[in-house]
Amino acid sequence: NAAEKGGYEHFMLKEMYEQPQTVRDTLNPRIKDGTIVIEELGMSEEEIRGIRKIHIVACGSAYHVGVTGKYVFEGMARIPVEVDLASEFRYRNPILSHDELVIVISQSGETADSLAALREAKDKGVKTLGIVNVVGSSIAREADKVMYTWAGPEIAVATTKAYSAQLIAQYLLAVKFAQVRDVITEGEVAAFLKDLQKLPEQIEMLLSNKEKIQHFANRYIAAKDVFFVGRGIDYAISLEGSLKLKEISYIHSEAYAAGELKHGTISLIEEGTLVAAVVTQEDLYKKTISNIVELSSRGAFVLAVTNTGNREIEKAADYVIYIPQTNKYFTNSLAIIPLQLFSYYVSVGKGCDVDKPRNLAKSVTVE
Ligand code: G6P
Repeated sequence: NAAEKGGYEHFMLKEMYEQPQTVRDTLNPRIKDGTIVIEELGMSEEEIRGIRKIHIVACGSAYHVGVTGKYVFEGMARIPVEVDLASEFRYRNPILSHDELVIVISQSGETADSLAALREAKDKGVKTLGIVNVVGSSIAREADKVMYTWAGPEIAVATTKAYSAQLIAQYLLAVKFAQVRDVITEGEVAAFLKDLQKLPEQIEMLLSNKEKIQHFANRYIAAKDVFFVGRGIDYAISLEGSLKLKEISYIHSEAYAAGELKHGTISLIEEGTLVAAVVTQEDLYKKTISNIVELSSRGAFVLAVTNTGNREIEKAADYVIYIPQTNKYFTNSLAIIPLQLFSYYVSVGKGCDVDKPRNLAKSVTVE
């Protein structure tokens, strides 16, 4: 009812606006005197140094958090990562060993496939960690260790604040692991923490610019197909941006690694097709910009989400949304905000049931 929505038109909008707080609540209790303390991890420094590989297993948006995690854990902490959809992991007889860590990410903690994947991992004797939102849920109870995301109850089927909190939990683990394994300096740790602590305010700022995106979204309520492209972490962001849009607006959308366009998607581009390009990884700017040029020359209308200061992009993209400066590993937390808002306003504009899209459930407890 209206009171539960706290004055917002939909739960999804309310939950998007709760993200700055969600990020603070997940982050702040784990930063003490300038260092990361994750007591619930229950791992000694020696054990952290001994991790040979991480497996991240999840479904839906939580899986997209895992795809980001692969880039973050590998890039920052230099630990090899495999990411799996839980429904695949459980049936592929995964190769696991005792010096590896399986991380299961789940908002509800009840997703049948994720729970089964967790049990499969436990049966094989590998250490398991749940990143879970619902306190006391099945995955939280059964994982060896649980790191809670403090997002509070999430009602809208399309996840926003729980997703944002999961990203934070993962960043904390990555910085912690990188520090303990001595692959980053104390100066880098301090810089990472500073950037993490700036995220809530930066998210607030992006949310307060919603009119610009609302206006843009209204032009695309009749779109048939939309494409999301990016490289590296930007590819992971694209996956989530695309899922949000199709979930709640019923517009067909696809996410593509920008370098892979020429092997498929580009044949689907017609005059006026909307392509959202996520361009937050500075070392990849040039590569993605050249993909944008390829797309435009085939008629695409390109919306770019990029870092403040990347003026180069204005020569290639048709419409640009800037996100504030942060570390390259944390851009997902910012770039996803305009994409969430875009999906939301397209869905509202089309008159869809934003909070309860057809055929979808908040938590899927059957296979
Ligand atoms: C459902 C929801 C998705 C969610 C996925 C995983 O399909 O509609 O939004 O990402 O389940 O849910 P979990 O609770 O495990 O994060």
